[in-house]
Amino acid sequence: MLPKMLPKSFFPVVFAALALSLPAWAQEELPAGPGKAAFKRMCSQCHGVEGIVRSKMSRDRWGTVVDDMISRGAKGTDDEIDQVVDYLATNFSRKLNVNKATASDLTGLGLTPDEAQAIIKYRVEQGTVKSFDDLSKAPGVAAAKLATLKDRIEF
Ligand code: HEC
Repeated sequence: MLPKMLPKSFFPVVFAALALSLPAWAQEELPAGPGKAAFKRMCSQCHGVEGIVRSKMSRDRWGTVVDDMISRGAKGTDDEIDQVVDYLATNFSRKLNVNKATASDLTGLGLTPDEAQAIIKYRVEQGTVKSFDDLSKAPGVAAAKLATLKDRIEF
């Protein structure tokens, strides 16, 4: 029986090897998207990208992090910088809880100030908004506009 003959120290070695091979694998698994190439080019020189993509942040926070990295020496054209922020915000964004969001959180998602106020008013009237269908009944926000938020909000 082969397993019985393996020294106990074999197992930690296997786990260490698996852990080491993980970053290379994770890098291959980056979601496709317009900013992917720019992201890999701009953000992988000083540290791996795995730690970055494990963070989940709002678009504003990603913008701040990218600015911070530029001040540390990350290089890219304005166009690449925009693409990278977009890529990060689209793929590694914390979802916004509609029931807790402030007006500025909502405008950060692309709603107009009037639409943000309409959602807050609806939320106050309803108590809690429980689902996307529920939210779709809020007066003052176009259905097409709401549809663009579907993947970025939770309840
Ligand atoms: C020139 C080197 C360099 C490049 C290029 C670089 N970083 Fe960093 N990054 C750093 C250093 C140094 C730290 C550690 C900062 C610390 O611990 O205070 C760091 C830490 C981070 C962190 C964790 C700390 C935090 O601020 O939340 C994130 C996330 C991050 N980088 C994202 C990025 C992204 C996104 C890019 C591409 C736009 C990028 N980095 C490119 C040097 C770099």
